[in-house]
Amino acid sequence: MRRALIIGNWKMHKTVAQAVEYARGFAAGMTVMAGREVVIAPPFTALHALSAALKDTDVSLCAQDVHWEQEGAYTGEISAPMLLDAGCRYVLIGHSERRKWFGESNEDVNRKAKAALKAGLFPVVCVGETLDEREAEQTFSIIRRQLKEGLNNISADDIRRAIVAYEPVWAIGTGKTATPGQAEEVHDFIRQFIARIYGTDIAAGICILYGGSVNPDNAESLMTQKDIDGLLVGGASLDPESFRKIIHY
Ligand code: PGA
Repeated sequence: MRRALIIGNWKMHKTVAQAVEYARGFAAGMTVMAGREVVIAPPFTALHALSAALKDTDVSLCAQDVHWEQEGAYTGEISAPMLLDAGCRYVLIGHSERRKWFGESNEDVNRKAKAALKAGLFPVVCVGETLDEREAEQTFSIIRRQLKEGLNNISADDIRRAIVAYEPVWAIGTGKTATPGQAEEVHDFIRQFIARIYGTDIAAGICILYGGSVNPDNAESLMTQKDIDGLLVGGASLDPESFRKIIHY
């Protein structure tokens, strides 16, 4: 059985004090239902403090990006061993905002995913088409290319620890969620892609998340789809009450 993984991506929001206050109110005493896992992805600056605040709770930590080298002269960057050291279990890779604003390519995504796996982190590899690409009926070719290049040369052993997040760019931060049917169609495509390369057993175990305007009202209809195994939640995770409702969909 695949676990239901729900990640709150805070993006560039919250100071250390705000993050710790959120964590105390949110995680303390929260029982997560069996088979579900709850994760918060705060900015880098709050990781270490949150790791202490979330100790002994059911909530784990995710970083929003990583560099592919372990250390070196890369001013401004953070490596996978550093993230592990700061208490992370997961790391987002290739979020569409990284691709759009910082020019991240599928090749960068691939190097980052490999570095995360090597360090013992679980990479959450993000894919998704823009509105123009969807309207031009290129959704599947875009996703195929992002997966082919982003997961290039990752061993079968390693891919078991990878997570894929489908986030249609047109649904991120817009209030326009993909319908459960639209999302399921792409999730099914992603699982078939993994099956072609790694076999059906591995594909059946891969956790595929949906992201893009997830909120307390649409979480359940998305999560009841066959190939939607979890949610990557942006805006609605900033408020602990709405994130809690999503977790308990
Ligand atoms: P959103 O963001 O929920 O605010 O649309 C999702 C994401 O970018 O991960």
